[in-house]
Amino acid sequence: MKKILVTGGAGYIGSHTAVELLNAGYEIIIVDNFYNSKPETIENIKKITNKDFLFYEGDVCDKKLLRKIFSENEIDAAIHFAGFKAVGESVAKPLMYYRNNIDSTLTLLETMQEFNCQKLVFSSSATVYGDPERLPIDEKCRLSVTNPYGATKLYIEGILKDLYISDNEWSIAILRYFNPVGAHESRLIGEDPNGIPNNLVPYIVKVANKELPYLNIFGNDYNTKDGTGVRDYIHVVDLAKGHLNSLNYILDHKGIDYYNLGTGKGYSVLELVKTFEKVNNVTIPYKIVDRRPGDIAVCYANPSYAKEKLNWEAKLGLESMLKSSYNFSKNTNHKKL
Ligand code: NAD
Ligand code: UFG
Repeated sequence: MKKILVTGGAGYIGSHTAVELLNAGYEIIIVDNFYNSKPETIENIKKITNKDFLFYEGDVCDKKLLRKIFSENEIDAAIHFAGFKAVGESVAKPLMYYRNNIDSTLTLLETMQEFNCQKLVFSSSATVYGDPERLPIDEKCRLSVTNPYGATKLYIEGILKDLYISDNEWSIAILRYFNPVGAHESRLIGEDPNGIPNNLVPYIVKVANKELPYLNIFGNDYNTKDGTGVRDYIHVVDLAKGHLNSLNYILDHKGIDYYNLGTGKGYSVLELVKTFEKVNNVTIPYKIVDRRPGDIAVCYANPSYAKEKLNWEAKLGLESMLKSSYNFSKNTNHKKL
């Protein structure tokens, strides 16, 4: 049985991926410092899959800890989720973002090299396309970034490319996620940000639960179907399955490659609000406010390369994403166990 190290496996995308890996018969080891997640998630992954796995609590920037993990386990590949991800916070605290995202990656790569483990799946982001050169966005589109978070992703992509050039024994899949939303059908794992959410769906969920009074829609004067921003929302379970297919691929093929993980469909903020209201039978009051600085009008993927190379495509639609997000928020069991 192949052993896979999952950094940041207690987080939103990592936990859903852990479930898919365990269900597919992989042995996993999770390392996470709970900076942006909760210990309950580890128990909930076990509950959903009815499988056990090793968990190390600690920082991926800690070389001693990583050496311990690699010396105690014969690891075949790593999936690297651990990192900070809030765009606004990265503008306010750039050094914290550069330190954590780049240091964790370098520490992981150095340790992998030391232990002769050369297979990696890395979490990149559609943010590396900046204001996209063309739509739908394919992997050959020009890369550019507008904030420190995006810059960390682009630097890491560059580090991985240089690493591969230096040693062709590496197998690396760089996954550029579009907008992950939704939650596992068990209602035990999902996205549960602390404080006031930055992202659209977690914010709408809080409005639906009356924890926030209304949604601010950031601009209705974009050049889109109804003036509001358009994004490619992808169900986190589909995204998790994309990691499984990527892992299967890199275990058998050397090289470095880049894949868009999106659905190929763009929905506006207003379309999303209407769909949320319909599937969850709730009303979402909203106000149109100024554009959010740094936002782009439209972003959606051409996901055909992932289909061709990884035999992966997103299957779940917007209704399923929005229903599962709301259902997860209503289940308080994931909080207490
Ligand atoms: P998340 O914050 O829910 O998960 C990240 C996990 O990593 C958390 O559990 C956190 O505690 C842990 N972590 C952070 N730094 C760590 C460190 N130094 N050592 C150990 N653990 C650490 O985020 P997510 O949404 O699951 O995102 C996972 C990855 O995907 C991130 O790299 C993120 O940048 C990337 N990504 C996310 C999105 C998105 O919209 N969610 C989009 C594109 C890319
Ligand atoms: N929006 C609102 N009101 C809100 C929040 C968002 O109108 O309260 C709008 C935004 O203007 C945008 C859309 O909803 O048009 C989606 O916004 P999100 O903040 O949910 O997502 P972004 O597309 O801005 O960014 C997300 C992640 C980034 C990642 C990017 C691409 O936050 O880290 O997707 O993967 F890089």
